[in-house]
Amino acid sequence: MKKLVILISGRGSNMEAIVQACLRERWPARVAAVIANRPDAAGLVFAASQGIPTAVIDHRQYPDRESFDAALAGEIDAFAPDLVVLAGFMRVLTAGFVDRYAGRMMNVHPSLLPSFPGLKTHQQALDAGVRVHGASVHFVTSQLDHGPIVLQSVVPVVTGDDAAALSARVLATEHQIYPRAVRWFVEGRLALDGLRVALTPPEPQWLFDDTCNKSNNVAGEGV
Ligand code: GAR
Repeated sequence: MKKLVILISGRGSNMEAIVQACLRERWPARVAAVIANRPDAAGLVFAASQGIPTAVIDHRQYPDRESFDAALAGEIDAFAPDLVVLAGFMRVLTAGFVDRYAGRMMNVHPSLLPSFPGLKTHQQALDAGVRVHGASVHFVTSQLDHGPIVLQSVVPVVTGDDAAALSARVLATEHQIYPRAVRWFVEGRLALDGLRVALTPPEPQWLFDDTCNKSNNVAGEGV
């Protein structure tokens, strides 16, 4: 039985999707803890309601990134996780912290990496005029929003989109790809080869979701 520790900063909808998939699909894993860097992170309420231990390491209580990351690592290691899952954890991590969890820490980022790292990714996509956008699940390296990509989702950008509409479309796919990627890890199906992530046995490491075109009856738009 593999152990997962999930880190959140706010809403925690990706964490919730992972917790629910783990139970529903009877993964050989359990969520050992959910840790937030903000006491008011809404996702803590859901985690507690599921009987999952929760903890808060408030970054505002630490003078610098090093001391915060050291305290966070201490809390994580108390649960001896096989995988650390960053689910909307909005902190830049020190190289020491990233190295400590090399090959066993994943993140979801709301863009098709390596495009649009950082914040406001949906507005970045709209401003760049791209016709497709999406999300990436990747292993974490010391380069922000970079690292071996496990799985990506792709959605169309359609006329009239604003950042909120695009964000909602992408988030719905995050809730599909992040649980899938974590499941692959706990099943021992992932192998790292430089920046590539091999999946055994192979299956698509992407998800195309154009249901917005169908539901809006604008089939073909953006094609
Ligand atoms: C998600 O869209 C996630 O991709 C993003 O924050 C949101 C968290 O939502 N993460 C990043 O931007 C990391 N660079 P959630 O709290 O409901 O899962």
